Amino acid sequence: MENIANIAIVTGASSGIGRELVKLIDQEYASLDEIWVVARREERLTELQNEVLVKLVPCGLDLMRVSSYDELREKLDEHKPNVKLLANAAGYGKFGKIGQLSLDDELGMVRLNCEALTAVTSIVLPYIQPGGRIIQIASSAGFAPQPNFGIYAATKAYVISYSRALNEELRDRHIIVTAACPGPVETEFFDVAGESDRSSMIAGLPRTTPEQEARHVLAASRNGKAISTKGPVASGFRFLAKALPVGALLLAMRYLNKMK
Ligand SMILES: NC(=O)c1ccc[n+]([C@@H]2O[C@H](COP(=O)([O-])OP(=O)(O)OC[C@H]3O[C@@H](n4cnc5c(N)ncnc54)[C@H](OP(=O)(O)O)[C@@H]3O)[C@@H](O)[C@H]2O)c1
Repeated sequence: MENIANIAIVTGASSGIGRELVKLIDQEYASLDEIWVVARREERLTELQNEVLVKLVPCGLDLMRVSSYDELREKLDEHKPNVKLLANAAGYGKFGKIGQLSLDDELGMVRLNCEALTAVTSIVLPYIQPGGRIIQIASSAGFAPQPNFGIYAATKAYVISYSRALNEELRDRHIIVTAACPGPVETEFFDVAGESDRSSMIAGLPRTTPEQEARHVLAASRNGKAISTKGPVASGFRFLAKALPVGALLLAMRYLNKMK
């Protein structure tokens, strides 16, 4: 009988939260044969093998290219694995006002954070059996509109809404979908995001570590949680976004920006 490999797939595995997820999955999932790790910087994915025991399969893909979806689909079709866990951590944000960022960056955020996450999930879904799990790295920025970080926050609002719907749709298949909604995390994210009024406000907030975020979301996923927030910034903002009307939140943000 043909052996079916048990695998996890992690996008954004070359850095930050995705990379820490790979290391923790290695420790927590003894039954995995492989982790397929996805990012553009393939050399980093190869180096990561030195830090884990499980076999890594580096997939150097630019998820903003539609051809990458075909490559992933073909690879899955060839190997027909049992995907125990899918974690979509690839993503980026750029601070700045809408219309003042380059169009490439504005559309790039939508393409990577929304389109690629959606495509990867749909392509992988047929290979996830009952009991499998999906982790989508959203952001606490998705809980409410964020002037000067507007497109990024909107992409993450999409991820939260999409993940909640998917979690509900997959209930009968016993597959849990968890949207992680971190506040600021100490990763390369801020090198990519650049500077603005908003970034200097966010720079003053306490940051969690990618390891803490990865550990927290894996536990939330194990516990069947639809949403995971770690630390006072993310949890506090989630509470405020629920408790206050959007207009009041926007007013408070305007006031805080002026006070800086
Ligand atoms: N750091 C924070 O404060 C924070 C807060 C809330 C949510 N998040 C979210 O957490 C997730 C992980 O971010 P992070 O903080 O860990 O940042 P990071 O260290 O910059 O990691 C981003 C990852 O995405 C990958 N990536 C970027 N563009 C890609 C592309 N076109 N194709 C394939 N992979 C691509 C990067 O790999 P390559 O460059 O090698 O392709 C990298 O592995 C993101 O979705 C981010 O929005 C971060």
